Amino acid sequence: MTNQNPVALVTGASRGIGRSIAVMLSKQGFRLLLVSRGQTGLEETARRCPDLGPEGIVLLATDLTQPEAPRRIIQHARATFGRLDLLVNNAGAVVSGPIGSYTLEQWEELMALNARAPFFLMQEALPLLRAAPRGCIVNIGSVVSKAGYADQSLYSASKHALLGMTKAAARDLAADRIRVHAVLPGGVNTAMVGDVRPDIDASELISPDEVAETVRFLLSMDGNAVIDELVIRRAAKPAWPV
Ligand SMILES: NC(=O)c1ccc[n+]([C@@H]2O[C@H](COP(=O)([O-])OP(=O)(O)OC[C@H]3O[C@@H](n4cnc5c(N)ncnc54)[C@H](OP(=O)(O)O)[C@@H]3O)[C@@H](O)[C@H]2O)c1
Repeated sequence: MTNQNPVALVTGASRGIGRSIAVMLSKQGFRLLLVSRGQTGLEETARRCPDLGPEGIVLLATDLTQPEAPRRIIQHARATFGRLDLLVNNAGAVVSGPIGSYTLEQWEELMALNARAPFFLMQEALPLLRAAPRGCIVNIGSVVSKAGYADQSLYSASKHALLGMTKAAARDLAADRIRVHAVLPGGVNTAMVGDVRPDIDASELISPDEVAETVRFLLSMDGNAVIDELVIRRAAKPAWPV
């Protein structure tokens, strides 16, 4: 790894989809700044990456619901690597229940993690992304960025917000040649889906590595073709959902 290698920031990299994306990026030659609350999970992710050398992979245990977290994380990227080529806003959580069941505290916490943190990470990262040869942002939404499922009104609100900011940022940043993509998976085989959809047979879930593979594909398109969004459905779901 040298200063020539691009740098990616991946949030929610301590397990699940974020871990798979981090491992995939390390194999593509990215140096990594990995963020989540849990240090142990981040260390396990780092162990699964090829050896990136002592300065190739940096772990930052941070709670993204803290308002100042985005600024601190980007400052860390600047101080450690002096560059940032790719921001992957992946960290997220879900709460479920009928619309009458949520508290104000649940709203504030979920929106802080799923919507506010990615928004301000994008904003804070702009100077570094503008300076990168090919700045890029990938926001991990969900099929509920577009649909409304029963018992998922709060999660759906947060993921619609994430998709909305992705669309607008893609327009805002086009002149800077920064591409902003949305990846919208259906049920993925991680801890999160077990919490909300224990009814789905694990054998029918998308694997986190499959989601990482779609991100690899998006990033490989660096010519005149741009894929703004990728919607990934489980094979067991009907094709072309309305
Ligand atoms: N699984 C699915 O079916 C599915 C489907 C569509 C979209 N998604 C989206 O995919 C993304 C990843 O989900 P996943 O399925 O991989 O879930 P997961 O296995 O529960 O992983 C969530 C990640 O986010 C981190 N995180 C949670 N709260 C955080 C906080 N306050 N501050 C910093 N990091 C935090 C977790 O690490 P710590 O706990 O260590 O902080 C973990 O690394 C989410 O945005 C999710 O909405 C998931």
